[in-house]
Amino acid sequence: MSTTTPASEVRKGLYGVIADYTSVSKVMPETNSLTYRGYAVQDLVENCSFEEVFYLLWNGELPTQDQLTKFNKRGRSYRKLDPGLISLIHSLPTDCHPMDVMRTAVSYMGTKDPEHFTPDKEHITHVGHNLLAQLPMAMAMDIRRRQGKDIVAPDPNKGVAENLLSMVFGNEEDSPASNPEDVRDFEKSLILYAEHSFNASTFTSRVITSTRSDVYSAITGAIGALKGPLHGGANEFVMHTMLEIDDPNQAEAWVNDALDNKKLIMGFGHRVYKKGDSRVPSMERSFRALAERHDGAKWVAMYENMQGAMDARNGIQPNLDFPAGPAYYLLGFPVDFFTPLFVIARVAGWTAHIVEQYENNSLIRPLSEYNGPEQRHVVPMDQR
Ligand SMILES: CC(C)(COP(=O)(O)OP(=O)(O)OC[C@H]1O[C@@H](n2cnc3c(N)ncnc32)[C@H](O)[C@@H]1OP(=O)(O)O)[C@@H](O)C(=O)NCCC(=O)NCCS
Repeated sequence: MSTTTPASEVRKGLYGVIADYTSVSKVMPETNSLTYRGYAVQDLVENCSFEEVFYLLWNGELPTQDQLTKFNKRGRSYRKLDPGLISLIHSLPTDCHPMDVMRTAVSYMGTKDPEHFTPDKEHITHVGHNLLAQLPMAMAMDIRRRQGKDIVAPDPNKGVAENLLSMVFGNEEDSPASNPEDVRDFEKSLILYAEHSFNASTFTSRVITSTRSDVYSAITGAIGALKGPLHGGANEFVMHTMLEIDDPNQAEAWVNDALDNKKLIMGFGHRVYKKGDSRVPSMERSFRALAERHDGAKWVAMYENMQGAMDARNGIQPNLDFPAGPAYYLLGFPVDFFTPLFVIARVAGWTAHIVEQYENNSLIRPLSEYNGPEQRHVVPMDQR
């Protein structure tokens, strides 16, 4: 064993390590609160559009009406269907995970962007607008091709949330895009998913950025990190679990059995929040409202019974993915597209962090405590 530093100094999972400063958001587990650029997330959810929050995360201040109009005009000008992206998506296997399609789409967009990479805010803003316009189209195309349906073209007159719903579900009367309350509850989920300080995917994007690589590479890597079930992938596993349990009256027994077998219950627990996730009350309200409008009493009972069982057993509280999973299900999204929705929202936070990393960069390169064999000599092949 090598013995340069005591093993107790190794922080596995960087548990509790403060890696840098950030002015993008602040997670306060002691008071169970979260602010984006100083505004409580609940305040933003109740009073702002997703685009206003996007603007805030990038620019540090909420926009005036004039600034927002210009921001939206610019952002929506990027909503052009790219024939190359269409044929790429249609060439991918229909049984691959939709997060693989998102990751591939971003990587492809990086090869197509005519703007030469420059590590400054204007360029990153350009890429952010491009991603926010193209990724909802990529996701909607992917859903519809798997369902054998034609593309619904983007609409430059709609906000991000409504436009996304309309491209996925169409514009018929029964589409959530035609119901302003559904649009608003969906938009609230995007605001809640937009940013969360140094989580695994944001940190990944910052690590890649710190090497002075380009923005598309940073976002491609971030998507890979978000896909995992311990991070963004949890919202899908929440719904898979609820569908597997099926009967809310079985929820308590299912949870206890899973815990007896040392299984993780997805949608519960958090690395930073130990007394509950600050985003849950807002998302839970939207989930309950969606359940009222979409005959979702069964999923509310499931939610309550699972939460009650977890609380009684170990006190571990739900995180944002727990109400978001059934909320997306009630809107009609296929379960394996829940994490791609998270990607679209989190582009806001990732790009804000990429700007911050570029503006005050230091290569991110931690050390490790070696615990392999002592130094030794190569034994020639014929003597091994
Ligand atoms: C998010 C997560 C990775 C945080 O992990 P962490 O910071 O390492 O968790 P902690 O160290 O506080 O866990 C303390 C204990 O609670 C247990 N625990 C934490 N979350 C749990 C869960 N969801 N289900 C069952 N047990 C859980 C841990 O296994 C650990 O048990 P142990 O002391 O017997 O080993 C973890 O809670 C988890 O895997 N949750 C499920 C996935 C999820 O919902 N992810 C989305 C996060 S926003």
